[in-house]
Amino acid sequence: MPLPKAELHLHIEGTLEPELAFELAARNGVTLPYADTDELRKAYDFEDLQSFLNLYYELMAVLRTEQDFADLANAYLARAAAQGVRHAEIFFDPQAHLARGVSMGTVVEGLWRALGSSEENHGISTRLILCFLRDESAESALRTLDAARPYLDRITGVGLDSAEVGHPPVKFREVYEAAAALGLRRVAHAGEEGPPAYITEALDALGVERVDHGLRCMEDPALVERLVRERIPLTLCPLSNVRLRTVDTLADHPLPAMLDAGLVCTVNSDDPAYFGGYAGDNFAAVHHTLGLTEDRLRELARNSFLASFLEDDEERRARCLAEVDAYEFAGDAVS
Ligand code: ADE
Ligand code: ZN
Repeated sequence: MPLPKAELHLHIEGTLEPELAFELAARNGVTLPYADTDELRKAYDFEDLQSFLNLYYELMAVLRTEQDFADLANAYLARAAAQGVRHAEIFFDPQAHLARGVSMGTVVEGLWRALGSSEENHGISTRLILCFLRDESAESALRTLDAARPYLDRITGVGLDSAEVGHPPVKFREVYEAAAALGLRRVAHAGEEGPPAYITEALDALGVERVDHGLRCMEDPALVERLVRERIPLTLCPLSNVRLRTVDTLADHPLPAMLDAGLVCTVNSDDPAYFGGYAGDNFAAVHHTLGLTEDRLRELARNSFLASFLEDDEERRARCLAEVDAYEFAGDAVS
């Protein structure tokens, strides 16, 4: 039985496996510029974040109908459940779909077909987080938040993703203020490829409650001290960092040093179809390669539930934490 965990950094579009991409392409009459899944997989050799994003946005062309989004989410939830995920806070990128003529309603209602019954069907409670694309304008982000108004009962928070360098958090101050006024929770990618100053700015200008990645905080000891003091959770994605060359190899990942520093770390999969593993695979990788002890793995799992937006269901949080505490590590069953 895998260690129970929450996944807090997961782009639903990044769970599109090649097989499903071709299935949806055929269903929707979309031609992909790859002969088959083998040829597509060969394109998964990324130089950096941008080279990944190019493919990530290209493959989204196959997502057109509510059913496509429902199938995508159900496929993720089934895989995540098999790896011990009990709660998932799921990012989606509406601007990438609106630009292709796919409406906010199609995306949210489609995802909801899977998420609305996820607890019964997969044993996973879910929340949805709408991400703004930081390489689009602040006005576009405001229009996107406006388009989401009819669906706010299904959306828990807002996030910020896409190409980081050159797009500092402060550009989105106004839309984050508007989101907060609507009662939405706030997170943002910061310090993945961008400098530690972007992490500070995400906290101060956007009021984020969690930082997605936050890896580069380690370059600024005063920032580390602040993140520890304020208990700001970081949603780390070790296999993503290797594939996007943010770290040279997994053995070089600063996760052990981050835990030793007292940071509230969590382990997540980011875009599992592209980066070689789901949540449990990330746990297994840091266990084997970084030699994290069982106590550390349990701490990561506890952190994931403590950092989750389960304030509206404290009973579930307590039940999940109790499961983590009672978990007995057996052999290799970390994932
Ligand atoms: N969108 C999907 N995955 C992302 C990542 N790792 N960083 C920024 N934007 C993303
Ligand atoms: Zn991400």
